[in-house]
Amino acid sequence: MRGKFISLEGMDGAGKSSHIDTIISTLEHREIEVVSTREPGGTGLGEKLRELLLHEPMHAETETLLMFAARREHIALVIEPALERGAWVVSDRFTDASFAYQCGGRGVDTHKMGILEQWVQQALQPDLTLLFDVPVEVSVQRLAAARSPDKFERESHEFFSKIRHAYLARAEAFPNRFRLLDGNRALDLVRADVVEIMSTFAE
Ligand code: TYD
Repeated sequence: MRGKFISLEGMDGAGKSSHIDTIISTLEHREIEVVSTREPGGTGLGEKLRELLLHEPMHAETETLLMFAARREHIALVIEPALERGAWVVSDRFTDASFAYQCGGRGVDTHKMGILEQWVQQALQPDLTLLFDVPVEVSVQRLAAARSPDKFERESHEFFSKIRHAYLARAEAFPNRFRLLDGNRALDLVRADVVEIMSTFAE
């Protein structure tokens, strides 16, 4: 049986990375093979592209094209082979991040993004997307405390506000696969929600 594809999304500082281990262990507890990966990245070439994407200034469409170049490689080498052999894939970000950051944040045309999505993914979409949502002030505050921020993490309050808006619009447009989590709570409370969502989904 084909595996399931789960993506984690949210603004920088929304706290999604804190829950990856919980997600993996909930699934492994049910004897599901899990492949944990991330975007941009997830392959040798993808990680090299990640370095450029996170640190090199570039045109917004160049950024978009490189995100999808990394994604093409990621799907071909990691995601599809895993799903085909029945493993579940948990990806720290996927295409919703491109709609949020490149379209929402940078103003890239959503129609162009849709063409790339169709070209690179064909029918592939996450089966479940956990969106960690926090107010922009919280995200900006958490980022201010971070060491050596990358190109995205140094962006303005306004940029993150547009990203949050774009993410929430994606969740509204695809209610079947999105689960919205309030990330502005104690870690344990968020974790309890994550466990419940994963337990129900993996039943
Ligand atoms: P992130 O996932 O937050 O990793 P870390 O927790 O190590 O900082 O960093 C990836 C950055 O890439 C994040 O700021 C969002 C950005 N990004 C895009 O702009 N578009 C995309 O399509 C993806 C996948 C990521």
